[in-house]
Amino acid sequence: MDSLRRPRRNRQSGVLRDMVQETRLHVSDFILPLFVLEGRNLRTEVASIPGIFRHSPDLLLDEIGRCIDLGIKAFDLFPNLSDDKKDRTASESHNPDGLYLQTIQAIKTKYPDVLLMTDVAMDPYSSDGHDGLVENGVILNDETLEILARMAVAQAQAGADLIGPSDMMDGRVGYLRKALDNAGFKHVGIISYSAKYASAFYGPFRDALASAPKFGDKKTYQMNPANSREALIEAELDTQEGADILMVKPALTYLDIISLLRQNSQLPIAAYNVSGEYAMIKAAAQNGWLDGERAMMESLMSIKRAGADVILTYFAKEAAQLLA
Ligand code: PBG
Repeated sequence: MDSLRRPRRNRQSGVLRDMVQETRLHVSDFILPLFVLEGRNLRTEVASIPGIFRHSPDLLLDEIGRCIDLGIKAFDLFPNLSDDKKDRTASESHNPDGLYLQTIQAIKTKYPDVLLMTDVAMDPYSSDGHDGLVENGVILNDETLEILARMAVAQAQAGADLIGPSDMMDGRVGYLRKALDNAGFKHVGIISYSAKYASAFYGPFRDALASAPKFGDKKTYQMNPANSREALIEAELDTQEGADILMVKPALTYLDIISLLRQNSQLPIAAYNVSGEYAMIKAAAQNGWLDGERAMMESLMSIKRAGADVILTYFAKEAAQLLA
């Protein structure tokens, strides 16, 4: 062969490959999701998210300390609540003495420099297991906004840095932005789950929080996996409504959507590498079917290469260890 072009020349040595590498992962890319559980000195593994635990608040603080030592400085907190704390209107979500708000406060008191993202949606507190308010089997969009706003303001009051509406109600970003501004939280950002799909890959997360819907599914608010133009509509609305960061969720089955938003928005793009995506790799690795560490790093790299600036991932600790 007498071709003048030989792309393999740039792959000859480790030094050269490193030099021409286009995408690099860094521990500052990651947000680690955390699950908090009522109690003291308690830690339960989520069976379907192996290696990930629900911690009682005291142990969660220790865990965050270990993460900080690994260089992880951003966290997303979710509450696991017992059934007696759940009701139709998610009233526990704005209880200042409740588990979630108390834990936010404890984290920010002990570690004022971490970036704490909090979750706005009704499902962890809802007796219906839905992200919105249910009446006669129907999700009431506009009535839900008020509940979400009260929740977001309470979280900001407790010390949240970044509010993450994961509910997919129409108009919620603008509604939350106004509520936060009116309550004096102009500096608190919104990382919006803009393109959140009705996905099978959330299964293990619902195990972690015991938050599966009690009836039906989430298809009247989460997006149809078949759609990409619709993601642009959602992203545009969230941008107009004041979102600071746009998110795509899940990540690996939606790399095209990450890339699409990257090309169509000037805002930072986040991607949520969800529980089922983590579980698949862990399960295969535990069976000896693939090299778990390499599959993890390749997945995270693909999410960043597709255009994500920020990656929410249960792999954050393991990846941070490998990157160190
Ligand atoms: C719900 C919520 C879900 C996740 C984060 N927030 C699941 C759902 O929509 O039912 C999933 C995260 C994951 O699977 O890791 N507000």
